[in-house]
Amino acid sequence: MRIETVSVFPQMFDVPMSLSIIGRAREKGLLSFAAHDLRDWTGDRHRTVDDEPYGGGQGQLMMVQPVFEALDDLLAHEPATVVFFTPAGEPFSHAIATELSKQSRLVLVCGRYEGFDERVYTRADRCISLGDYVLTGGELAAMVVTDAICRLLPGVLGDELSNVEESFADGLLEFPQYTRPSVYRDLAVPSILLSGDHQKIAEWRRKQSILKTAQIRPDLLERASLSNDEWSIARAALKDYNGRA
Ligand SMILES: C[S@@+](CC[C@H](N)C(=O)[O-])C[C@H]1O[C@@H](n2cnc3c(N)ncnc32)[C@H](O)[C@@H]1O
Repeated sequence: MRIETVSVFPQMFDVPMSLSIIGRAREKGLLSFAAHDLRDWTGDRHRTVDDEPYGGGQGQLMMVQPVFEALDDLLAHEPATVVFFTPAGEPFSHAIATELSKQSRLVLVCGRYEGFDERVYTRADRCISLGDYVLTGGELAAMVVTDAICRLLPGVLGDELSNVEESFADGLLEFPQYTRPSVYRDLAVPSILLSGDHQKIAEWRRKQSILKTAQIRPDLLERASLSNDEWSIARAALKDYNGRA
């Protein structure tokens, strides 16, 4: 898969896109990445990408012309899914990361200043928001999205099961995990995890996932696929937590 970004700070991507899992995925050829400088598509001496908003108001807006010309060039020879980052986009999720991980090429367009001239969105296949807050720029959003996609690419994580068991993969939060020592100060690891009984451990983990989701993110339960018995566990937990609230 190939991911490209278009932004006014391409150098921001240097370190995050070179280290750890993403760095190794690139070395193995599972992910290719390039950060383009939007100013390469400006026509003036100052390489201007922003201007004042029509109708007045605070700050500067990203101009439509450099964004259009960047996309004209980048899409001229090879198609790509074009994603813009904006607080007005669809909230990013595991489901969107999974969909995007199946594309062969993504172009991620990052805003700055007070955002984009609205006309840029006519070039968008998707608009994505990271959440209900305002970042200073779309570069961090592009890094988050690239990171979430990268670990879903086949062969990127050493253990393919890592994805299957992680939070959100099956609509639930991940069960609690522990590592050595088995007791630290007065905090002991649940004894079931030391039992060596893999069937019982799997059942305990599934139940803990349901209980944790009911407590922390009950909204996720509506879309999770649960058996009748598991629904009974979830309902009892919800009743319990609601009773305590
Ligand atoms: C300061 S923000 C502009 C915010 C804009 N004035 C508004 O109120 O919606 C500059 C850029 O950061 C990025 N950005 C900010 N918050 C974001 C979020 N929650 N999700 C995705 N991108 C965001 C976008 O690319 C945006 O164009």
